[in-house]
Amino acid sequence: MSSKIAIEANDLVKNYVSFIRRGIFGRRRVVVEALKGVSFGVLKGEVFGLLGPNGAGKTTTVKILCTLLLPDSGTATILGYDVVKDASKVRRIIGVSLTVEKGFYWKLTGKENLKYFGMLYGLDGKFLEDRVNMLLELVGLRKLGVEDKLYEEYSLGMKARLSLARALLTDPPVIILDEPTLGLDPPSARCLREMLVKLAHEEGKTVLMTTHNMFEAEMVCDRVAIIDRGEIIVMGTVDELKKRVAGSVGIEMFVLTSARASLDSIALKIREGIGVPCSIVGENGGYRIKIVSPSDEVDEVTSRTLRILHDHKCSVRRIEVKEPTLEDVFIKLTGRTGF
Ligand SMILES: Nc1ncnc2c1ncn2[C@@H]1O[C@H](COP(=O)(O)OP(=O)(O)O)[C@@H](O)[C@H]1O
Ligand SMILES: [Mg+2]
Repeated sequence: MSSKIAIEANDLVKNYVSFIRRGIFGRRRVVVEALKGVSFGVLKGEVFGLLGPNGAGKTTTVKILCTLLLPDSGTATILGYDVVKDASKVRRIIGVSLTVEKGFYWKLTGKENLKYFGMLYGLDGKFLEDRVNMLLELVGLRKLGVEDKLYEEYSLGMKARLSLARALLTDPPVIILDEPTLGLDPPSARCLREMLVKLAHEEGKTVLMTTHNMFEAEMVCDRVAIIDRGEIIVMGTVDELKKRVAGSVGIEMFVLTSARASLDSIALKIREGIGVPCSIVGENGGYRIKIVSPSDEVDEVTSRTLRILHDHKCSVRRIEVKEPTLEDVFIKLTGRTGF
């Protein structure tokens, strides 16, 4: 294994067995293939993003890496330690934030919570006091003036900051975060993103984060792996991924229609009739149609799409042509959005 690699996942497979209720007493066993052979490597000192829609397998992957879940098959290592065989060593070298809101004491202040967890990790005395103060400063809780407020009074943004501070208590070389900005107010999300980049680029930490926010992945991550339905569909730097759609542009149309059902046949007609990838998602009471078109066919694709929309009695409110984004990469590779 190359020493440049901090986190390595090799062919991880995970199935969940769950039961669907049938009638009052009946239940049917279903197997969910959450991971179908996931492999990727994260380099030391980079911010790596595992990007994918809901249910793609992001949380399952990070839980395996954090030693909280056993894979059915496949292996993973963190700084060379196997997450199954050397689980206790792995736990000592990672800092983890899985669910921002879980695992804190509601009747303790933010600062008291950090001190408590610091003691659990074996820190104490002036070292612990200094470390807690430094982290409160770093994540901006001191600046917000809330370090001595009860945790139960914290906003989600404050909880997320505290959760990151806890992950950093032992100064771990590897930080693993599951959707760290989910549901945060924009300033907290921005602050958190900036911190993650700083931790990697200035302090040399390795950061693995999951997100379903393409914009965030584009902004924060040095490299991204897009995961969909338990499989990595593409991996690389944001620029490399965008080269996948080189020579393409994204055409976005916002339409209003009363007949939702016809949108599926519209999407099908665009995909098959015009031969370009297309996705449709609900937005602000209408629908956003996104088409990935070859750059030199924009006019043709637009007018043919407008004709189809007209035939289906959709009213087009807005049309925009944009440089390709990660979303277009996903649409091109999967034919849907789901984000
Ligand atoms: N404990 C569980 N039991 C059954 N199915 C699960 C369980 N956890 C996750 N799943 C299923 O596994 C798939 C992947 O889930 P998850 O890893 O949470 O995806 P993500 O974090 O990308 O949204 C989904 O289809 C989800 O419904
Ligand atoms: Mg998840």
